[in-house]
Amino acid sequence: MQSEPARGRISEEEVEVYISEEEIRKKVAELGAMITRDYEGKDLFVVAVLRGAIFFAVDLVRAIDLPLVLDFVQISSYGDSTESNGRAKITRELDLSIKDKDVLVVEDIVDTRHTLFNLLSFLRSKFPRSIRICTLLNKRERAEREIPLDYVGFSIENLFVIGYGLDYAQRYRNLPFVGVLRKGGEIVR
Ligand code: IMP
Ligand code: MG
Repeated sequence: MQSEPARGRISEEEVEVYISEEEIRKKVAELGAMITRDYEGKDLFVVAVLRGAIFFAVDLVRAIDLPLVLDFVQISSYGDSTESNGRAKITRELDLSIKDKDVLVVEDIVDTRHTLFNLLSFLRSKFPRSIRICTLLNKRERAEREIPLDYVGFSIENLFVIGYGLDYAQRYRNLPFVGVLRKGGEIVR
């Protein structure tokens, strides 16, 4: 892993590249091509989860060569901490109807899957035709709920990651790569 001068860097926190801009760019193109094949002839409705996933979502939809609709939901999860508390609530509703649509949920990262579980029950109550999940990152071995992920960019180890939309106490979202934080020499998990 290589060190980078980080945008928005705070003293005592060092940022290391974990997944580079180039790797992300390639992966987004691959996922976009897969989704384009799978959703041909369907009524694709992309639901991006605010705030983190918008960075991935705006790149991904431009890699999908199909007509689609894009809308956003926000769901609270961690607050300013790095641990999920298992509870989540919808804090911003969809503007558009997903009834009879083929919904693709776009997430930045899936960890315990509690957030996703809550989001899926919210979406199911609106009668979409289908729901699939696309996440840029999936933390291996952290799932506490049985939810299949349809499209996964990268399976990662249990590290706290930042950048490309992902935050640590709301900072670092604007890094163009996915990184890890080091404090006092130790990687933050
Ligand atoms: P889950 O409910 O445990 O699956 O957590 C999912 C949410 O937690 C994500 O949408 C992120 O907002 C946040 N999250 C989980 N892991 C990380 C991380 O490593 N970095 C930044 N945010 C994370
Ligand atoms: Mg999120």
